[in-house]
This record gives sequence, C-alpha cells and structure tokens, in this order.
Amino acid sequence: MTSTLRVSPAVPYARMLSVGSYRPERVVTNDEVCLRIDSTDQWIQERSGIRERRYAAVDESVCDMSVAAALIAIERAGLQPADVDVVILATVTHPYPTPSAAAEVAFRLGTNGAAAFDISAACAGFCYGIAMAQDFVRGGSARNVVVVGVEKLTDWIDLDDRSTAFIFADGAGAAVIGASDTPAISPVVWGSDGGQYQAIAMTQSLIDYRDNGGERFPTLSMEGQQVFRWAVSEIAKAAQRILDAAGISADELDAFIPHQANMRITDAMIRTLGLPSHVPVARDIATTGNTSAASIPLAMDRMISAGEVPSGGLALIIGFGAGLVYAGQVVQMP
Ligand code: UT7
Repeated sequence: MTSTLRVSPAVPYARMLSVGSYRPERVVTNDEVCLRIDSTDQWIQERSGIRERRYAAVDESVCDMSVAAALIAIERAGLQPADVDVVILATVTHPYPTPSAAAEVAFRLGTNGAAAFDISAACAGFCYGIAMAQDFVRGGSARNVVVVGVEKLTDWIDLDDRSTAFIFADGAGAAVIGASDTPAISPVVWGSDGGQYQAIAMTQSLIDYRDNGGERFPTLSMEGQQVFRWAVSEIAKAAQRILDAAGISADELDAFIPHQANMRITDAMIRTLGLPSHVPVARDIATTGNTSAASIPLAMDRMISAGEVPSGGLALIIGFGAGLVYAGQVVQMP
C-alpha cells in the first residue's frame, strides 16, 4: 500500500509583518552630480523629480546595508533572528557572482542557518521576493522570510555619464513575511519582455573587461526613453491587472507605492489607473533617487513612519526594470 506524507497542514495566508530600511548617510545634491555631468539642478528635477539622493560610503557594502535594514524589520516584527527560515536578497549590485550576499547576510543577522539566496530581477526584485516569500509561507516551506531589496548602484554607474549618473543611488529596505489567518498579500502579477534586454544593460561583461586589457570597467547603460515608454504603456496596465487579481478597485487603496524610477512615470501611472486623489502616493524619489530593488521598501518605510499609510491599509506595489521585468501585488501594511 502507498504511504501518505505526514506533513503539517499548509498555512492559509501570508502577510507582511514589518518593514525596515537603511539610508546611507551621505546626501548628494543635484548640484554635486552636475560637477561631473553637463546638466542642471532644474533639468534633473523637471525630468525625474529628484532633488537629492544618498550615496553609500566606499567601504559600505550591499551586505552591510542589508543587515542594517533587515535587523530593524526583524525587531519590528517582534521576532528573533533565529525565527527567520529564509533570507531572499534582491540586488544587481553585489560585486561577487558567488557566494550570494544573502548567505552572508543570513549569517550576520544571527539566523539559525536560514536558507539564503539572491535574486536578479533588478528594480522588480523586491516584488519578486515578496511573491516567493508568500508562497514559501503558505506552502509550509518557511515560517518567516526576510526579503531584502538592496543596491549600491554607485559602484556600477559611470558618474560622468549624464544618461544615468543623476538618477541612480544607494540604499536598502527589508520586509518580514509570515503567516496570516486572513488574506493580506494578493497573488503576484509578473512577467518579462526579454526582447528589450538591452534597454538597461552593462556596457560589457567582466570577462570582456579582463580580456580587453582592463579598459573601461563595465557600467550600467540605459535607453531612458525606451524604458520610459514601456513603463508608461505596459506597466501602468499591469498595475490594473494587480488590482483585478486582488479583487479591489483603485479607490479602495490606502497607498500607491510604485518603484521610484522617475516621478513622471509615477504620475503617468496615476492617470492610467484613474487613482483617486485621496490615495497617498510614494514620492520618495525626490530625496532618495532611484535605488532599484531597494526603492519600494524604502518608500514604504518612509510612508509608514510618516503616518501617511495606516497599519492594515492596502498598498499597491509594483516594480519594473532591467530585463525588462516587472512584478507587483496588493499588500496589507504591517
Ligand atoms: O529603474 C529602472 C527603470 N528605469 C527607468 O524607469 C528610467 C526611465 N527613463 C527615465 O526616467 C527618463 O528617460 C530619464 C529621466 C532617464 C531621461 O529623461 P527624458 O525626458 O527621457 O530625457 P531624454 O533622454 O529624452 O532627453 C531629452 C533631452 C535631450 O536633448 P535634445 O535632444 O532634446 O536636445 C538630451 O540630450 O535632454 C538631454 N539630456 C540631458 N540634459 C541635461 C539627456 N540627459 C540630460 C541630462 N541633463 N542629464
């Protein structure tokens, strides 16, 4: 006779228990950025909404920033590091292909040997991580999952390239996902358009850099207009599909927290969604810049701390970027 597995019943739902974030100390104004590129404070503000951003210190690593953000999130969740079963770390700026940043972070957090891995989904990475974390919790693979979105983009951009230097910055945000009796995270809506993989890409691989005699260290290049058009047309529509998957309408939202790519992209998405004016919108990009995988948890933590979104409120989060990839969900705020 065939045996049946004796496993614990699956948890009905998952929720975001907490958020934490880390902003590097050094504030960099547009005027400082313009010392190296042919641009102006006015142009940068008009085209992107950015007034200033944070740069990590030279000796401050992706792992350092991740640990700082995750420790806050774990404490706010009322948990101990040993209660964390999985660490998912979303980044495209950890300087080592292996080992993962997540393994170092899990160790430094003091978890009890939590499962740990990195994901490469650029500016959508945090939402990819939340999607996996909720499935791990609901499927019985983990009790509590730490999801970190972190970038040190200043290591990988050309500070003399005016198509990217003013937009990207550094930081980290983290969330803890755990069990819930009621639905608190909607099914993810996600996808990719790899046909546009060169829209945000590296100028060359590290192998090419080595074999070409070490000239022009690889940096991030971006076809800004191409990404802008894709975001405004496709991602705004995906945001509506997220609401449909969550079974709510835009006027039931308590916050809209899109990836902080460009203030004008956020405004275009608001128009496409028909977002009512009473719904607070994340505008963290003004003082934080575009921090890729870190931008959504950084913006979320700022809104929660400022009392702009109530505990238990529903936030639409959506990330999009290099790949091109995107992901998003409606999340009940911790
Ligand atoms: O987070 C990952 C996903 N990334 C994004 O979502 C970024 C999406 N793209 C963008 O946010 C925008 O494309 C940028 C903010 C990067 C650029 O804004 P834009 O309105 O698309 O500018 P543009 O590239 O169309 O350039 C407009 C003009 C050009 O001059 P002409 O041809 O009109 O004379 C550029 O040469 O502005 C010029 N320009 C600049 N001027 C001053 C380009 N970069 C700069 C600059 N400062 N830094």
